[in-house]
Amino acid sequence: MNELKIAVQKSGRLNESSKKLLEECGLKFSNGTGVLKSTATNFPVEILFLRDDDIPQYVEQGVADAGIVGENIVAEKKRDIRIVEKLGFAKCHLSLAIPKEDEYHGLEYFNGKKIATSYPEILSDYLRKNNIIAEIEEISGSVEIAPGIGLADAVCDIVSSGSTLMTNGLKEVVTILKSQAVLVASKNLPQKKVEILERLLFRIRAVKNAGEHKYILLNAPESAVPKIAEILPGMKSPTILPLVEKGWVSLHSVVREDDFWERINMLREAGAEGILVIPIEKMIK
Ligand code: PRP
Ligand code: ZN
Repeated sequence: MNELKIAVQKSGRLNESSKKLLEECGLKFSNGTGVLKSTATNFPVEILFLRDDDIPQYVEQGVADAGIVGENIVAEKKRDIRIVEKLGFAKCHLSLAIPKEDEYHGLEYFNGKKIATSYPEILSDYLRKNNIIAEIEEISGSVEIAPGIGLADAVCDIVSSGSTLMTNGLKEVVTILKSQAVLVASKNLPQKKVEILERLLFRIRAVKNAGEHKYILLNAPESAVPKIAEILPGMKSPTILPLVEKGWVSLHSVVREDDFWERINMLREAGAEGILVIPIEKMIK
């Protein structure tokens, strides 16, 4: 019973990417449908598949030692747990949305209105801070259909791609909170489990860093190297290898995914040819 117990979402937006992250960290475990508990065969971790809404509570109570859950759920549940690391996936926001044909001129719109939500805590804090008096109708799912069936005037719910709002004839008017998946943990873990968590965190960071970067290879005339090296601020500096063709070299470096397209054009202008961009699996800083 010395494994670190990690809770992940059983099904929903975070399920696939949470499992993918653990797999990319090298953990081997079975995850077929209906499996609620799974012990990794090559790492001291037990994975519990739970409803995401319950994860903060289980982590606080010590039923799970850690969990992967949305910041939105952490904020709503107000449990006494620790956010260990932002994971960079399942990005979304919690927003207020209204029927798309309604005119909107500001928050006063919501005075006297009924708002359906699964986030009553966050919503009531927000309304109080902004001096809006509205009624909150708490429902646990399919919040977006509430206005269409006459249950509420507006909704406060998670928007990811925005397609659920659109299919339900709603428009987003205010963002209340930005969210992404986070790794949470209990505040009082025994030393043994803290160590396992640290080991896992090391791997998570290596996977996360890798996902944010690309490995780039290119050929260029030797004369273009100083210019190109300036455009490519690699981990230290680019690696340069001579090509058989005289006066030409091959340059290798790592670039951030974010500014990668911009850099590609600058590189071509500087004389780079045969540019290859390769994904990185793990990256340890
Ligand atoms: C949210 C929300 C919508 C959907 C929006 O649910 O309730 O149903 O995501 O996504 P879209 O903007 O891409 O259409 P969530 O995944 O948080 O599910 P849960 O409340 O059932 O856990
Ligand atoms: Zn949920």
